Amino acid sequence: MKENFLIEGLGGKYSLSGEIKIGGAKNAALKVMASSILFEDGIRLGNVPEIEDVYRMNELLSDMGAKVKKEAPHKYSIDASALKHSDLDYQLSKRMRASIVLTGPLLGRRKKVSFPHPGGCVIGARPIDLFLEGFKKMGAKIKVKDKRYVITAPEGGLRGMEMFFGLQSVTATETFMMAATLAKGKTILKNCAMEPEIKSLADYLSACGAKIKGAGGTTIEIEGGGLLKSGGGTYETVPDRIEAGSFLILGACAGKKLSITNCRPEHFEALIGVLRELGAKIEVGKNKVVVRGGPLKVPEPEYQVKTHEYPGLATDLQAPLVVLLTQAEGESRIHETIFEGRLAYTQDLVKMGANITMWDSNRATIKGKTPLRGKELEGPDIRAGLAFVIAAIVAEGRSIISNVYLIDRGYENVEKRLSAVGVKIKRTANR
Ligand code: EPU
Repeated sequence: MKENFLIEGLGGKYSLSGEIKIGGAKNAALKVMASSILFEDGIRLGNVPEIEDVYRMNELLSDMGAKVKKEAPHKYSIDASALKHSDLDYQLSKRMRASIVLTGPLLGRRKKVSFPHPGGCVIGARPIDLFLEGFKKMGAKIKVKDKRYVITAPEGGLRGMEMFFGLQSVTATETFMMAATLAKGKTILKNCAMEPEIKSLADYLSACGAKIKGAGGTTIEIEGGGLLKSGGGTYETVPDRIEAGSFLILGACAGKKLSITNCRPEHFEALIGVLRELGAKIEVGKNKVVVRGGPLKVPEPEYQVKTHEYPGLATDLQAPLVVLLTQAEGESRIHETIFEGRLAYTQDLVKMGANITMWDSNRATIKGKTPLRGKELEGPDIRAGLAFVIAAIVAEGRSIISNVYLIDRGYENVEKRLSAVGVKIKRTANR
């Protein structure tokens, strides 16, 4: 059943107050769930966000014979020690890019994996050339059959290798870090992505017997060995820096005093820097940030905000930040450097009253401050979907946001958490 969010906007008032607790990171939990395939025993995960992508990953693993159990809300156990096959379900893989990270552990363990080109948010071409190049370097053979890649490890299993990634890729770094733990010999990965979720995964795997050095930096060395053993310990999912950053932006646009708790402010320092340049009042504590809304101003002519690989400004925060820039006095530019096609949602902000001119698919100018008016909106992807929620809260009047499934893919129970701080938001069924 399709659902909508009905939001009554605040019309530019700064009135939200209270606390929003941050959940575990989607992009950490999904990868640790995939890592269950590297283990001779079952693994346990805590602080898992109750979101649609986690459910899809459960279904993908279960379809291959893994035993996935929800022990309690946010607590899961997964035993993938006796898989029946390693062919990723077509429909499920098409729904989520994270499905690609299963390929590394599956090829390592089962010596064969087949999968369709992964789906996920439509935010650019999202090729998989780095994955295919890496698997070849590990000695694997690649065929394409019936719209599926069929990859087979060499006799005797995957071999360690050295690879320089042509560009920093989060899922490619994770996939090869995992494949290499089951390969023979040493793997050296260069120009790796440095996102905190990668380090968190590496720390967990290392605690369970993997030999991984350097994760969180650009060169990672992995000494291959056998299967890992969890020994009954629990992986606690690192807090979601994108969720924290998005709610921080909401607070800067519409907060009286909003506390974002259970988060790691050092994971979104770049965002905090930009918001402060724009005049946002933010106090940073150890595991929380407190933000007070108020007038914002672009600090200088031709002020430019650019997305960047971690620790730079996350591309996943770009859409919420553009909503905020429509509310700042002055002219600013946004430059999306990671994905082409991730600014298409700005057309809907223009319909709400924003003054945004796109120069090409990656760059736009925003002239603020413009009042926004409530509209009917359809979220195009997870992150732009939440940006529309923020825009609707800032706007005057009522907005209807359809395609709430996309928001549910990445954020747990948004309406309940936002209602608690004063947002007028209701989930309704599509008639
Ligand atoms: N790329 C290639 N070839 C490849 C792989 C990637 O050209 O084989 C390119 C991409 O097209 C992109 C750049 O490399 O231009 C970086 O993409 P990356 O591979 O890092 O992105 P990803 O791993 O597919 C993850 C997150 C995204 C997040 C990006 C960037 C997961 C499941 N997804 O995607 O999260 O935007 O890193 O930080 O971890 C989201 O959660 O909503 C989301 C889109």
